Amino acid sequence: MKLLELGDIGKGQHVVERYAYARLPRDAMNDGVITKPELVEQALREAWRNLGTRTREVAMSLPTAAVITKKILIPGGATEAEIETQLSAEANQMVALPIEDVSLDYQLQGPNEKNPSDQNALLVVTRRERVEERVALAESVGLKPLIMDVDIYATLAAFEQIAATQLPDNGQGQTAAVIDIGAYSTFVNVLHDNQPVYQREHTLGGQTLTNEIARRFDMSSEEAEEAKRRGTLPENYEADVLQPFLDSVVQEINRALQLFFSATSYHSVDHILLAGGCASLPGLEDMVHHRTQASTLVANPFARMSVSPEVKARQLASDAPSLMVACGLALRRFDPA
Ligand SMILES: Nc1ncnc2c1ncn2[C@@H]1O[C@H](COP(=O)(O)OP(=O)(O)OP(=O)(O)O)[C@@H](O)[C@H]1O
Ligand SMILES: [Mg+2]
Repeated sequence: MKLLELGDIGKGQHVVERYAYARLPRDAMNDGVITKPELVEQALREAWRNLGTRTREVAMSLPTAAVITKKILIPGGATEAEIETQLSAEANQMVALPIEDVSLDYQLQGPNEKNPSDQNALLVVTRRERVEERVALAESVGLKPLIMDVDIYATLAAFEQIAATQLPDNGQGQTAAVIDIGAYSTFVNVLHDNQPVYQREHTLGGQTLTNEIARRFDMSSEEAEEAKRRGTLPENYEADVLQPFLDSVVQEINRALQLFFSATSYHSVDHILLAGGCASLPGLEDMVHHRTQASTLVANPFARMSVSPEVKARQLASDAPSLMVACGLALRRFDPA
């Protein structure tokens, strides 16, 4: 569970005010469905306490796998009622659910290329329950959810920050693969000219390394996790445990890229942006660069922002790649109305 608060210090400049984590037990959620609400509530309460803010308004997100999207065309001059009817009809074809069990939203994406009086739009549909369970969760600890986004769109918003600071020419005309390596899964998100062109989820994550540490050094999973992050492990850790894990990660990244090339007309990527908690593993950046020959960077969505004196800058530097979604969500607060 990750909480992040951004502030606005004028002239479009943002500041990282504070952030906090809480450990979410593995069985609390399953495929984006909250299976043990009491455990999730407990984690949110704990993260909230750690955050120590007076703000109560939050933006949250749904896992990418919990939504279905479709590009649609909204005829020029359609009234609100007509649009609503159209959206319901579209949603009806997308999911086999009564419309009252569906939550939907759309975003206009500019005039249609062939028929400029019509508007391109992206329709996003999910089970209403997925939204309601998250709203209920936030409310149960006294928070006020204002925005419900989707992981992938939040990631894209954070990517804009990264493109502006970490990529040459703002990323224009270039292909960048954002590879988010989490605890249990890895999300590959390829952008060309800053537009998403490919997404895929893989089963690869840092929990494998945590488990191996626990097994090798006879620790509990919690102890292993803590020691991994702090780098307080026996001398043979690097050669015997970390290195083989990094080798397997690099191999998986390479395989994921080959999959992308074979599924699309792309043959190369200009940049690889490593994100997620595992991006901070020492040595990974160099190894990925070596193997792929693409320019490789650890994603820092806060590179353009200032940092409050309360936040430990060194800790933030190692946590930043795992805060892409949180950053994208917090930025929603500053969207033009
Ligand atoms: N500084 C660090 N050094 C090494 N590993 C780290 C560090 N920080 C986090 N991790 C590892 O990264 C993983 C968590 O990453 P992240 O926070 O991106 O995952 P998540 O988004 O919660 O999980 P998932 O994407 O699988 O649902 C854990 O395996 C954790 O041990
Ligand atoms: Mg993740």
